[in-house]
Amino acid sequence: MKGTMVERETEKSEHSLSCGMSKGQHKSEDPHICGEESSSTQEMFELLRIDVDSETLKIPRTDSQDSSCSRNVLRKQKNWEKTLAAKKGKRREEKQRRKLKRIEESGNMLQSSQHSKRVVKAITKERLIEAKTVGPRLCIDLSMTDLMSHKEISRLAGQIRRLYGSNRKAANPFHLYLTGLREDGLLYKECLRKNDGFLNYVMDVTEDSWLDLFPLDSVIYLTPDSEHALEHVDPDKVYILGGLVDESIQKKITYQKAMDSCVCTARLPIQEYMVKKTNAKNFHSKILAINQVFDILLTFCETQSWPEALKAGVPPGKGYVLYGESAPDAHLCAESALETL
Ligand SMILES: C[S@@+](CC[C@H](N)C(=O)[O-])C[C@H]1O[C@@H](n2cnc3c(N)ncnc32)[C@H](O)[C@@H]1O
Repeated sequence: MKGTMVERETEKSEHSLSCGMSKGQHKSEDPHICGEESSSTQEMFELLRIDVDSETLKIPRTDSQDSSCSRNVLRKQKNWEKTLAAKKGKRREEKQRRKLKRIEESGNMLQSSQHSKRVVKAITKERLIEAKTVGPRLCIDLSMTDLMSHKEISRLAGQIRRLYGSNRKAANPFHLYLTGLREDGLLYKECLRKNDGFLNYVMDVTEDSWLDLFPLDSVIYLTPDSEHALEHVDPDKVYILGGLVDESIQKKITYQKAMDSCVCTARLPIQEYMVKKTNAKNFHSKILAINQVFDILLTFCETQSWPEALKAGVPPGKGYVLYGESAPDAHLCAESALETL
């Protein structure tokens, strides 16, 4: 039925194509022209056939034909819309991926170019110099070398390097002090050996004690044994870190020193925001290296969030995780941790 209609319509179209030509004109005498004409006529026929095919869709149908047709059309339309949406999604993803790649590449280019390296270095130095007047103050008390082995002193020099490196990278660095660093001591030698450009570090280095440098009421000695949790970093205070690497843990050394000097103490608020996580060795420690404590302070200053700072800075090996990020049994550990406060 449909085929018949199409044929009829095609006949009609073939007829209407020859309109404007007389019957005799339909075929050319010239075989060459005839060939061209007949091939273009052929093309027109093809086009018209396509038109006619699409036209036939518009031919009125019976109700049942109509409903099945419209169902088909709807189904096709839905499929088409789905395909279109999927394509759009893919295009969007691809665009985003290209954008990220561009950003990454431009960042890499910036880092790799010598020129930008010089600029970054200059900006860093400027920031560190500015921190000497506006930055929060942190002092490393290096007067306890006699309590450490050669190896521990060497490790302390490495920690100072890392701490300084973190400060250089910080958007808002601290004003750093090294106190009690004797130029004839092993630590000084190790600092020179392990820290490239140590003599050019932008920080205050002195053999003097912090006790002679700062008003005592401005000092807060950070010690893991303090009963006070640090709440915020006060720009008017000077925070002291004990320059100690104690592989064989010597408990309460800095706490005792602070007590003897009548200065305030504070500890990182680890137990306020973290819980013990069960581990194979059943090891849990809130004692961190000085560079780790400093990284936590830097992140806190940047984010004003202890959970964020502690999460980023407390190494997993210390056996603590943030509240809410623990396995179900870690809750029990948290309770026992609180009991031992
Ligand atoms: C390896 S710890 C030395 C611990 C040593 N038992 C003591 O008496 O301080 C080095 C320094 O980092 C700082 N520190 C380490 N963990 C800390 C914590 N949880 N809270 C505050 N300060 C901490 C302290 O200033 C400490 O003196």
